[in-house]
Amino acid sequence: MITPEAVLAALGTVNDPDLHRDLVTLGMIEDVAVDGGRVRFTLVLTTSACPLKGQIEDDCRAAVTRIAGVTDIAIKTTSRVRKPKDPSADRKALEGVGHVIAVGSGKGGVGKSTVAANLAIALARTGANVGLLDCDIYGPNLPRMLGAQRQPYQKDGRIVPLEAHGIRFMSMGLLVESGEAVVWRGPMLHGAIKSFLGDVDWSGCDYLLVDLPPGTGDVQLSLIQQTVVTGAVVVTTPSTVAIEDSVKAIRMFDKLSVPVLGVIENMSYFVCDQCDKRHDIFSSGDAQARALALGLPFLGALPLESAVRLGGDTGAPVVAADPDGATSLAFRAIAGHLAQRISIITLGSVSASA
Ligand SMILES: Nc1ncnc2c1ncn2[C@@H]1O[C@H](COP(=O)(O)OP(=O)(O)OP(=O)(O)O)[C@@H](O)[C@H]1O
Ligand SMILES: [Mg+2]
Repeated sequence: MITPEAVLAALGTVNDPDLHRDLVTLGMIEDVAVDGGRVRFTLVLTTSACPLKGQIEDDCRAAVTRIAGVTDIAIKTTSRVRKPKDPSADRKALEGVGHVIAVGSGKGGVGKSTVAANLAIALARTGANVGLLDCDIYGPNLPRMLGAQRQPYQKDGRIVPLEAHGIRFMSMGLLVESGEAVVWRGPMLHGAIKSFLGDVDWSGCDYLLVDLPPGTGDVQLSLIQQTVVTGAVVVTTPSTVAIEDSVKAIRMFDKLSVPVLGVIENMSYFVCDQCDKRHDIFSSGDAQARALALGLPFLGALPLESAVRLGGDTGAPVVAADPDGATSLAFRAIAGHLAQRISIITLGSVSASA
């Protein structure tokens, strides 16, 4: 007779390809049920954006098939984003939020906001609950990029973020008159970020992406001091000056003990819509080489494409407007890698401290 223990023992031989530990130890197998030769269980992935979902399911199926007498296997695959362990007692984890992910760069204009918006939408399309916080207090671009510029309202004493393209978002741009400049000093910035984190209802978010202003200044420091940031994504273009500046951003995150989840090379190349030829306008691949030299994962490259700029200008980011186009697929692949890195860091720290 087949027992649930035998099924668990079989699944205990299947390793998560990223974490190199077995699925049972990692707590990814639940609700094992056996009825004669029929075996059912739930596979709980660490993210709905897991690019290895198919491979893990196949490995589970192969392991259970090896038990004598099994005639039928039904796997229910779900996901539950695990929270990181708080590395520091003085930083407070955001209530109800799985992971805070900072999107930064050394240099301005490399596409942080564009990348943050499209990655957020790509993650949401996998079924994750995603928030996007525009921490560019002086130059908030996300309301335009997401095509939503209403004033948010309050409910039960908390600010309700706006919704657009399947994500929730909040920005200073929603609170000031369009076109008006914000002139605030350090302590006021700190207060604004505190309010964006604490007074806005982000509950239920698996991922809260934070779009940072360029550089290594007050906003970055303030965010990291006030909450637990799971990790940072660094966006760069392949030019030497942008990469040099991105190394400064990487050092800042290192100093503040925020793991760098990976580097993204934006505007990596241009594909001519007339001749379909790929042109390396900057120096495609340099960011990848530098990331690898620094021992950091490279999350992917994105083309320079007018549809991306147009999407941002018209409030319809390319991943929402054309989800299956080549550029959107590149964004979606990067979102998958990012989610994978978050799972590795989180489960790595959980099992290291277990
Ligand atoms: N891959 C791309 N292809 C074409 N245009 C792009 C691409 N990425 C970004 N852009 C455009 O480049 C401009 C700058 O992008 P974005 O505002 O996202 O950069 P940023 O790094 O957030 O800038 P800042 O440092 O000012 O916050 C925008 O007009 C945007 O639409
Ligand atoms: Mg920006």
